[in-house]
Amino acid sequence: MSRPVRRVPAAALCALALTACVSGVHGTPGGAEGVHDPYFPKAGNGGYDVTHYALTLSYDPGSHHLTGNAVITARATQDLSAFDLDLKGLHVDEVTVAGKRARFNRTGQELTVRPRDDLHRGKTFRTEVRYAGSPETITDPDGSKEGWLRTADGALALGQPVGSMAWFPGDHQPADKASYDIAVTVPRGLQVVSNGELRSESTARGRTTFRWRTAEPMASFVATVAIGRYDITRTTIAGHLPEYTAVDPARRRASEQVLAKIPEITRWGERTFGPYPFSSTGAVVDRADDLGYAALETQNRPVFPGAPDTGTLVHELAHEWYGDSVTPKSWQDVWLSEGFATYAEWLWQEDHGGRTAQATFDALYDHGERTYADLWSFPPAEPSDAAHLFEDPVYQRGAMVLHKIRQKVGEDTFRAIVRGWAADHRHGVADTADFTAYVEKKAPDKNFDAIWSEWLYGEGRPDRP
Ligand code: ARG
Ligand code: ZN
Repeated sequence: MSRPVRRVPAAALCALALTACVSGVHGTPGGAEGVHDPYFPKAGNGGYDVTHYALTLSYDPGSHHLTGNAVITARATQDLSAFDLDLKGLHVDEVTVAGKRARFNRTGQELTVRPRDDLHRGKTFRTEVRYAGSPETITDPDGSKEGWLRTADGALALGQPVGSMAWFPGDHQPADKASYDIAVTVPRGLQVVSNGELRSESTARGRTTFRWRTAEPMASFVATVAIGRYDITRTTIAGHLPEYTAVDPARRRASEQVLAKIPEITRWGERTFGPYPFSSTGAVVDRADDLGYAALETQNRPVFPGAPDTGTLVHELAHEWYGDSVTPKSWQDVWLSEGFATYAEWLWQEDHGGRTAQATFDALYDHGERTYADLWSFPPAEPSDAAHLFEDPVYQRGAMVLHKIRQKVGEDTFRAIVRGWAADHRHGVADTADFTAYVEKKAPDKNFDAIWSEWLYGEGRPDRP
């Protein structure tokens, strides 16, 4: 499900796909080395669409050594003589395509692969990458940490926006979603938690392998691996939804009461947003200080670097619908994820005897900059740069956009929009234009021009109507 990519002239490609040029292959285009996301121009790749990742990893926290084997099944969306994968750090030992050794070259985060035989548009092909090394922690433009994070007793892999390239090669852009099999082998006594459902756990010669499967489409930025010692709780919500929750023993006391609300929040979420979009839920609470954020909405079970509060738990679980199931097409559209998750917090409060969403909106409008100094510094749908993607204009003002829509269309239509949006784009991707068109379709008698131009795209604090 990658976005269409403009063809790059063959000469420009020689600079990108070195191997293709070295061997004198011209004329057949290679896949582009990025997908024109203005915030992360090199993230993701053109020319193919991944359908499945099978990752077989082995990690030793003591030596901080990772070995990986990634089998990537993809469909060519154009004729390809070369294509790129994103991989940061690590050493690549071998690449094969369709079972034959392929030439490859690395420049920065681009792993350019030149298969023995050209790939034809529409063809499904398998790439296998064998790699190893010490996975990196990435510092984002906003100073937060992602990628591979070492913890006291293991590690955490977190990938928003671009950290997943620190632990596996792939098409690391939000729009290319795929199913996953993630198997991780660790020294016996440690546990591994990932997305989806645990299929098996087996120990041999002092090492344990955990095999996790994610059947529903997943963007790579919400893929995760958590390695360490955890207290595991397995239950079933409402008789059908498996919950798997892993908590670092040192955080159990602080998180017990909040995590006990997962079933209640999930049922409230289903009433408010529609059917829960995945086949399992849960949470991971670990000990990782100084990431610069309180949680990540990793698919099926959000990761919390410390004990969450109820608002944060509601926010992350709401992301399963908005962010994980309906995924922003590019990083510019991230307000579709964060604005909804923030508005979910407002709705939760309203439905549980707290402030109404209207009161939250009014307080923000009147003196929001006292709490959120930069609230009016840029419009939600046009973050100023990559260092400002996860800031208040995206979260708070993004939620304010949703509240303006609610005011305009009234309660019933608003509820239908919130649920319908999740249903229509379930397991897919969407951008801001898709959203505004959807809202207009649902309320054809209303005019949203002022909301879009002032609240979504306008600079500064909109005037009071
Ligand atoms: N998406 C996370 C949340 O709102 C926050 C992640 C922030 N990431 C970052 N690189 N600043 O729940
Ligand atoms: Zn969020």
